[in-house]
Amino acid sequence: MVKAVVLGASGGIGQPLSLLLKASPLVDELSLYDVVNTPGVTADLSHISSIAKITGYLPADDGLKKALTGADVVLIPAGIPRKPGMTRDDLFKINAGIVRDLVKGIAEYSPKAFILVISNPVNSTVPIAAEVMMQAGKFDPKRLFGVTTLDVVRAETFVQDITGENDPSKTVIPVIGGHSGETIVPLFSLAKPAVEIPAEKLAPLIKRVQFGGDEVVEAKGGAGSATLSMAYAGFRFAEKVIKAANGEKGIVEPTFVYLPGVTGGDAIAKEIGIDYFSVPVELGPSGAEKATNILPDVNDEEKKLLEACKTGLKGSIEKGVEFVHNPP
Ligand code: NAD
Ligand code: LMR
Repeated sequence: MVKAVVLGASGGIGQPLSLLLKASPLVDELSLYDVVNTPGVTADLSHISSIAKITGYLPADDGLKKALTGADVVLIPAGIPRKPGMTRDDLFKINAGIVRDLVKGIAEYSPKAFILVISNPVNSTVPIAAEVMMQAGKFDPKRLFGVTTLDVVRAETFVQDITGENDPSKTVIPVIGGHSGETIVPLFSLAKPAVEIPAEKLAPLIKRVQFGGDEVVEAKGGAGSATLSMAYAGFRFAEKVIKAANGEKGIVEPTFVYLPGVTGGDAIAKEIGIDYFSVPVELGPSGAEKATNILPDVNDEEKKLLEACKTGLKGSIEKGVEFVHNPP
């Protein structure tokens, strides 16, 4: 029996993500939580003839506690999105506190749940979630994931313009690092099956993956950022976490984790000098079971991308950790 919970369920991501979870045969119970509109979203989804039993809560009457109790997987898309001209870091001021408080609830009511953080800036909100769980004495690094799947989905999709492959999801492209601009490092040299990318097309392709989020923010012109593609990506990642928890073998997906707490991750953390990083992770019944070190396989150009990534990522991680230890 799997209970999934969406915190921020009434939002642009929350609604389509909840729809996908409600329709999934992998979910037996779905609980929605938001500060607004949860009763309406819940009533609407409750008419869908799928197996998941659905409940929805607002903060009143212990809503967060009721939503989280018994949770196996908690997805967090709560928080404000970008508008044109903003960086993800500009969201920190508001979203850091939202994520901190929601994760305090998880520590109290569902400490064993897999936590999938979508709220930006992911490079900071995941360290915030980890620190909150640590302070509560409930941190299990195998169960905390920053969702970077949208970067993988974009890499698969954008490379299709070059390969002409009919089904983009058939090309596996590792995307590592963080989830913001230059911290996003797509490794096209490690694509499987291998892809031939003409030299003049590679740099624009990498840039498009790194700044794909901006493309959507600009196109929406002030009405928010990626929601539908993110719901797809978030559901795809959640499905893999659930399938692996149910015993399915061989599921590997890049995700932003606390490396020292994951088997094989400590060596990677030491090599790059950073504790939080997205790498391909083998998923299993206990969550992130093994981090794969693909760093020795990257080419010289990609090594340069990694250097830029590390510089950007360090400060964002420290900012998240500091926020929990010395709240403003
Ligand atoms: P949105 O504004 O449409 O929805 C956010 C929802 O969160 C709203 O319904 C709001 O009421 C709710 N919320 C606010 N405070 C809350 C709280 N304390 N508890 C519960 N719910 C709360 O925004 P969106 O477009 O759905 O984006 C949500 C977040 O996801 C943003 O931070 C955005 O940057 C991020 N995002 C991440 C990725 C990724 O790849 N990880 C991709 C796209 C968007
Ligand atoms: C994305 O990559 O689309 C998200 O992180 C949202 C954003 O702000 O770009």
